[in-house]
Amino acid sequence: MIADSVPPGVNPDVPTPARLYDYFLGGTNHYEVDRQLGKRIKDLVPEVSDSAWANRAFHQRAAVWLARERGVDQFIDIGAGLPTQGNTHELVRSVVPDARVVYVDNDPMVLAHAGALLADVPGVEIVMADLRDPQALLSDPVLTAQIDMSRPVGFLMTGVLYFVADEADPWGLVATYARALAPGSYLVLSHLTSDNKPPRSVQTGEEVYARATENIHFRTRADFERFFDGLELVPPYPGADAGVSYVGVWGAEDPAAADTDDSRWLYCGVARRP
Ligand SMILES: C[S@@+](CC[C@H](N)C(=O)[O-])C[C@H]1O[C@@H](n2cnc3c(N)ncnc32)[C@H](O)[C@@H]1O
Repeated sequence: MIADSVPPGVNPDVPTPARLYDYFLGGTNHYEVDRQLGKRIKDLVPEVSDSAWANRAFHQRAAVWLARERGVDQFIDIGAGLPTQGNTHELVRSVVPDARVVYVDNDPMVLAHAGALLADVPGVEIVMADLRDPQALLSDPVLTAQIDMSRPVGFLMTGVLYFVADEADPWGLVATYARALAPGSYLVLSHLTSDNKPPRSVQTGEEVYARATENIHFRTRADFERFFDGLELVPPYPGADAGVSYVGVWGAEDPAAADTDDSRWLYCGVARRP
């Protein structure tokens, strides 16, 4: 199905990461061009929808874990994406009913759809900002009205850092955000990798996103681990050592069963800011 309207600021002829992800997740907020290019990836990487859901499910488990196990009651969700099944505020509010959530994204399509969904939901907001400008993002008046930065925050950045080129220093950006958070805050990150993946599949992904509004940047496990410098990674599941893992196994009831090929397209980690 094609989205039936074009919100202000949206160009339906150029794919965006949010609409491609929505297509992979089986949503309806995408246009013909997103489907055409998304299908190129699907043809070569048939597991791409399962990978997207493995990432999404990690995001959901980590957010709920922060609320339930660490008592986090305020969240900043950067690169929030289009509304989908199990949005962050719905999940964390099932644990902490008055949890505050600020969604951040730089795609006007997300602003339009999340804005409509959240219009009558007090304590949950959407902010249009680019994560590559932390000063502007963190000083946005809508965000500062909801989030008390002197208290712990659940800072979610899943499936988004691979849209930031090395030249924009994603490691420096994450460090800047971590410094801005109160001790006891948690960072939740996930990231695409090309480790052990077929080069042709990786190349097709790069080619498709080269025609979208953002390029895609695969990173190695070592590069991903660097995002957590100075932070305290938690174990991905009981009995595991603290560290990063594939998205499927984090918080999984049966990590061995959850360690599937599709979930191995993305690394993830949850870390405490000391
Ligand atoms: C693949 S989706 C991930 C959605 C969600 N975080 C998840 O993991 O399920 C990536 C989202 O990041 C947003 N995004 C990409 N680059 C961004 C940037 N520089 N600043 C803010 N948002 C960005 C896209 O618009 C898109 O909605």
